[in-house]
Amino acid sequence: MQWEGVIRHYFKHLPVSEKTPVVTLLEGNTPLILTTNISRMFGEHVRVYLKYEGLNPTASFKDRGMTVAVSCALERGAKAIICASTGNTSASASAYAAKSNLNCIVVIPEGAIALGKLSQALVHGAKVVAIKGNFDDALALVRKITSRYPVELVNSLNPDRIEGQKTAAFEICDVLGKAPEFQVMPVGNAGNITAYWKGYKEYKEIGNVDSLPRILGFQAAGAAPLVEGYPVKNPKTVATAIKIGNPARWKEAVAAAEESKGLIDKVEDEEILHAYRLLAQKEGIFVEPASAACVAGLIKLNKIGYFNKYKKVDSKFDIVCILTGHGLKDPDVAVRESPPPEVVPPDEGAVLEAANFKG
Ligand code: F0G
Repeated sequence: MQWEGVIRHYFKHLPVSEKTPVVTLLEGNTPLILTTNISRMFGEHVRVYLKYEGLNPTASFKDRGMTVAVSCALERGAKAIICASTGNTSASASAYAAKSNLNCIVVIPEGAIALGKLSQALVHGAKVVAIKGNFDDALALVRKITSRYPVELVNSLNPDRIEGQKTAAFEICDVLGKAPEFQVMPVGNAGNITAYWKGYKEYKEIGNVDSLPRILGFQAAGAAPLVEGYPVKNPKTVATAIKIGNPARWKEAVAAAEESKGLIDKVEDEEILHAYRLLAQKEGIFVEPASAACVAGLIKLNKIGYFNKYKKVDSKFDIVCILTGHGLKDPDVAVRESPPPEVVPPDEGAVLEAANFKG
């Protein structure tokens, strides 16, 4: 049987009824991939998994939240939706709006959106407006607009987005048969960390799992307000998806880290790019830089011995890294960070020599 999308699969856990017009692109059911080379860095008793959210229909985790947000907006009679975005929310909103004949406005920081994401919003026919400002300015603007005009906000301030995104935590538990001991994820506007923590807690409350993971969130060092403890005016990072200086769900993110006895920390751009290449070259998984931030964080924690005490207490444990967006979203970084192809004459010897292949 075909997978039916997150609303139908997790119907009773979501704010929907039989009357809700379900708008779905069959998002969710993404693979939980056991790593080969990354797991080895931890010794034989630790399994590191990758939840590959880049395999959603618009190639990021946003689709889980967008199916619920758009379906509920339609049920309330909405004619238009709006969001501010570092790219992925706009790609997802545009696609779900196209599917449901809603008008869609996306407000983005000029020149700061990865090419793949911009192309998605444009091709799906959203009204794309670029502002001379950053994501935080764009979010402030759309909040103002939605408070005055009949247009639904589909940023993760919208509780329906959180509801949809919590289904990823359900899927992880369903596959493992328990909650993992640790979950590592990138943090930007802090909607997703809020959603996962809610999902795990709900699954425990209804007895589907009997433990909760420690949530380990990572921000880019140049855009780490949750680590610094104050908003960052001019956030800077190669990971444009999480280039955010004043997260909307600040309190919830801090609560998720505290309640779960986890943490929120930061990683440098070089660490992000190292993890980005490691995932691509040692695991066969292509992600965008923001997603690599969580693996960069995992490596950082492992290096300082963070997991050692757990290795002693609990001899076997699982770590799940949330790979939030596909690498094709940001082809510019991929090309920039890799050696260019060597150009040679159309000649066997020249090709083999350039490929450094000795036979
Ligand atoms: N990873 C990716 C690929 C993202 O696009 C985002 C957020 C995050 C991580 C962080 O998630 O904001 O819930 O903490 N992207 C938003 C957007 C802001 O507009 O696409 P978060």
